[in-house]
Amino acid sequence: MSTDNTTDGSTETESKCGASEAQASAGETDTEANTGSKCGASGAESGPESSASAGEASPSTEADDTTSECGASSSSSSSSTSSSCGAASSDSSDEEEVGATVDDFDADPGRLIAVGLGPGQPEGMTARARAALLDAEHIVGYTTYVDLLPDEITEGAEDIYDTPMCGEVSRTEEAIDRALAGNDVAIIGSGDPNVYALAGLALEIVESKGATATMLDFDVVPGVPAAQSCAARVGAPLVNDTVSISLSDHLTDMPTIESRLHAAAKEGFTITIYNPWSRKRRDNYEKCCEILLEHRDPETPVGVVHAAGREDEQVEIVELADLPELGETDLVDMTTTLLVGNEDTYVWDDRMVTPRGYETKYDY
Ligand SMILES: C[S@@+](CC[C@H](N)C(=O)[O-])C[C@H]1O[C@@H](n2cnc3c(N)ncnc32)[C@H](O)[C@@H]1O
Repeated sequence: MSTDNTTDGSTETESKCGASEAQASAGETDTEANTGSKCGASGAESGPESSASAGEASPSTEADDTTSECGASSSSSSSSTSSSCGAASSDSSDEEEVGATVDDFDADPGRLIAVGLGPGQPEGMTARARAALLDAEHIVGYTTYVDLLPDEITEGAEDIYDTPMCGEVSRTEEAIDRALAGNDVAIIGSGDPNVYALAGLALEIVESKGATATMLDFDVVPGVPAAQSCAARVGAPLVNDTVSISLSDHLTDMPTIESRLHAAAKEGFTITIYNPWSRKRRDNYEKCCEILLEHRDPETPVGVVHAAGREDEQVEIVELADLPELGETDLVDMTTTLLVGNEDTYVWDDRMVTPRGYETKYDY
């Protein structure tokens, strides 16, 4: 059971994409060079006004991350932009609209795969994901994830299109347009493409373009989700029935999140909390702690895993009662996952253990 349609990215999607948080994104500067159009859409000339130019470094905001030149990862602050491959263009501050349709492309379609990278380090990637990325002609992803790719993959790709935070719709459309133009494209994300990530968005956009998944030979290459890579760091916290809930209210409203927290907490599931905290969402974290404490013992073990598999990894096992104060520390931020035990979970030898129930049937 998951609560959030937030897509792609441990840090990109949950904090700065909402209109009220546009200022946070606005401070970012994208210095990626425009690598030029790789799409070949016949709708290339359709842009009415300006387009991002090569090598431009411009402030990137959620509002204008729809600018696309099929290879440009720079964003323009202009509200009226064009796509040179018939990809997304928008003059809205909040909406990203699908641009080219399947009829705008003359070439035989290529291939589109959504690839999960796992937690971050190259060793955490599955062999199948690595092989898929080595085979891909184009790789499309959030800059942070592109930076996590091993050199053999980035050096082997014909082209890499990366965008900073918040461009998940335009980035996904870029990947689809490239595939419709005949390229073999991989769109990447952390963890697994089915967990608060881009697999669903990709299919929705393919459909909205009048294309089909079959036409693009669309496939999903799974990765290890944060819930599992973080659980592994603290022992065996999720062994029985479990749910995941995201605290990001960017795409799911807070009353729904609260309702789902109540439902999960009172039913004794172990709970993985994704997107737990950001400066702009202190309230969501505090409310989550309050709801969990309403239903669970204050001594319930909670695994707190920051940046699993990355250089700044930190791991602690705390009690539920300690959780509220951790919201203001470096341990809990946008790259943290919380693993909340159920009434049976205990800590033994610095490991969380959630019994599966074997002890009720077997002697050991
Ligand atoms: C938009 S979700 C993406 C989830 C991803 N698709 C997955 O399968 O794990 C982003 C959230 O995943 C969690 N996350 C992603 N990578 C993580 C890591 N290396 N360590 C801890 N949590 C991580 C954090 O809770 C973060 O806020």
